[in-house]
Amino acid sequence: MHSNSVELIEPPANCVMVGTGKGGVGKSTIAAHKAAWHAARGERTLLVCVTSQDDDDLGIESFDRGIRPDGPSVLNGMGLYRAIHDRTPLLPIREVRPNLDVVPGGEAVGELATLLTARMPVEGVHVVTSLARALEPIAPWYDQIVFDSAPELDSLEQLALAATRWLFVPTRSDTNSIRGMRRIARNYKLVRKQLNPYLQVAGACLYGSNPSATQLHQEVRDAVLKELGLSTPMLTTVVGYREMPAVNARNKGLTFGEYAALLPSSARSYDVAAGRASRADVVPESIVPLANEMESLNSEIDAHCRKAPSS
Ligand SMILES: Nc1ncnc2c1ncn2[C@@H]1O[C@H](COP(=O)(O)OP(=O)(O)O)[C@@H](O)[C@H]1O
Ligand SMILES: [Mg+2]
Repeated sequence: MHSNSVELIEPPANCVMVGTGKGGVGKSTIAAHKAAWHAARGERTLLVCVTSQDDDDLGIESFDRGIRPDGPSVLNGMGLYRAIHDRTPLLPIREVRPNLDVVPGGEAVGELATLLTARMPVEGVHVVTSLARALEPIAPWYDQIVFDSAPELDSLEQLALAATRWLFVPTRSDTNSIRGMRRIARNYKLVRKQLNPYLQVAGACLYGSNPSATQLHQEVRDAVLKELGLSTPMLTTVVGYREMPAVNARNKGLTFGEYAALLPSSARSYDVAAGRASRADVVPESIVPLANEMESLNSEIDAHCRKAPSS
């Protein structure tokens, strides 16, 4: 790769990518909640989903949230694809929540890999900065930018790494997740060296785990330090594995906090037993600890990004 002719783009200061080289770890869930967390604090926030999976945690597609930009659809990753293809600024869906704009992921994002490869012979390593360039004109609108990322393809992961200031790495405690961390660590080093010297690790956390498995946690911490470097902050918040409330919230297009807020008026199991309600109407009580843990994870990530020196 010939990097001498590449024009470096300084990423915005408050820009965090959630990434790890493996699927199903919780990246998209964390990215959506992090974006919603900042927006709820009154910060103008942008979530960019650089992933071919459109999880729709915020109900954009299923519940028609937000104001779509004029022109062709930006759903299913098409807006992101078009911006990079046409070399135009990103066009987010506005006000998906108050203060929250989103560039949705989806199938078309997967097609970016072919586009980037086709441009490689002429543009060289410069193609990896194409997302950073599409973001640059709109970045000043926002106080906070969050990237969700895809582990499917190194080229997509690198695209987001070239556009972000911070990398935050969630991991599960299995060996595959730890291997995935090795992969992002490799892409991180590559992009930092060639294209984005501003890139820093914001920290790592254990996600979707049993918070009482302390022995296991120590092993994961050791693996994180080994793969991502000794200076990586390992956050203390562990978001527990609570599949039912997590999956229900996503299906309803609600954040954990929004879903938890429905609990007081929710139908109960005895209503289901009496035939007054269906199972789907019952908000599981375990949404409360899940929402609290996610809240505390976001406070902790934010505190780390604020106190770290920005080099
Ligand atoms: N704390 C949790 N406990 C159990 N399941 C979860 C939790 N958070 C998210 N999930 C579910 O796990 C699956 C994978 O999460 P996702 O955020 O899509 O991961 P990734 O983006 O890394 O592939 C989804 O079905 C999601 O709803
Ligand atoms: Mg995902």
